[in-house]
Amino acid sequence: MSTPTNIAFVDLKAQQARLKPQLDERMNRVLAHGQYIMGPEVAEFEDALAAFAEAQESVCVANGTDALHIALMAEGIGPGDAVFLPSFTFAATAEVVLLRGAEPVFCEVDGRTFNIDTDDLRAKIEAVRQEGRLRPRAIVAVDLFGLPANYEELTTICQVDDLFLLADAAQSFGASLGEDRVGTLAPVTATSFFPAKPLGCYGDGGALITDDPDRAAQFRSIRAHGKGAEKYDIARIGLNSRLDTLQAAVLLAKISIFQDELNARKQVAGMYTERLAGVVTTPLIDNASQSAWAQYAILLDDRDAVAGRLKENGIPTAIYYPKPMHLQSAYIEFGDGAGSLPASETLSKRILCLPMHPYLDEETIDSISAHIRAAVS
Ligand SMILES: Cc1ncc(COP(=O)(O)O)c(C=O)c1O
Repeated sequence: MSTPTNIAFVDLKAQQARLKPQLDERMNRVLAHGQYIMGPEVAEFEDALAAFAEAQESVCVANGTDALHIALMAEGIGPGDAVFLPSFTFAATAEVVLLRGAEPVFCEVDGRTFNIDTDDLRAKIEAVRQEGRLRPRAIVAVDLFGLPANYEELTTICQVDDLFLLADAAQSFGASLGEDRVGTLAPVTATSFFPAKPLGCYGDGGALITDDPDRAAQFRSIRAHGKGAEKYDIARIGLNSRLDTLQAAVLLAKISIFQDELNARKQVAGMYTERLAGVVTTPLIDNASQSAWAQYAILLDDRDAVAGRLKENGIPTAIYYPKPMHLQSAYIEFGDGAGSLPASETLSKRILCLPMHPYLDEETIDSISAHIRAAVS
């Protein structure tokens, strides 16, 4: 079985070749005006980002982790507060909770969508109330691999329990649920422009998206050391968390082709699913939502052996995530240990992410799929 050579897990070079003139022009403009911090491209990109999400406001920050952190800061979340989040996620989702002095409450995920299991969430909220030690304050929903979480139910839970809903959309900018785009599914959405994300820059970057102008004003203040109305008027405790002008310039070039890239990702996912259905467990295609397809994740029993066979044949794969957060040594004291969240624990043993980007051609997808079929049989 022959394999195309140099298969990239994420092909940023192909994208760069396509966009070279726009990238050069955008970056050269910044080098010419020299406003490297909060130059005009930042506001221009914020407008473009909000328009893409069909949201009122976007506030760019230094990275996706800061976006989550700033959202919790603005909400006044701190000691004594319980913040509910899925265990099967990237560390940043949990880290920001502890940085605020609040406590993470790790919840189970659904074994097919990989997103927070709302039945377990309800049970955990009730358990925290019963115990009385912490005050339930917020839910951080993660749109894992690009698929929006169940925001309809999450919104109801937040209304009933008076909780703040924060969307961790680091992997899902560009996705939608029904007619509504990521950025408008929760009162506040945080996203990341880490280079490998569907909309990535050439370094670190992130943004907060909201329809609430008061919240947006707070985010703008917090990202600039808590700046008040005047230049040296400090109204609150803040951070230094601005998006570099050069990164905004890169993102302005990239957002011009983003919808086209999202369509291509969807096609790639469809081709994988056609070839792998019945061979391994393929991702759930949920008609109510459009994933941003940040990752194409399959489930299989002999995951490590299959990954090894693919590697021998020049096919890169990744395991997101080999350990759920409640079993990480730095977080173990906040969970109930091994066996407490079985779906999350099983996923971490069975999941395998395949090469996924908008420039994967059919021949490569055929070859990757054939190698998987051979490896599992
Ligand atoms: C689910 C999730 N949350 C938060 C982040 C943090 O984003 P950043 O790396 O931009 O800080 C990431 C990025 O890797 C992520 O995947």
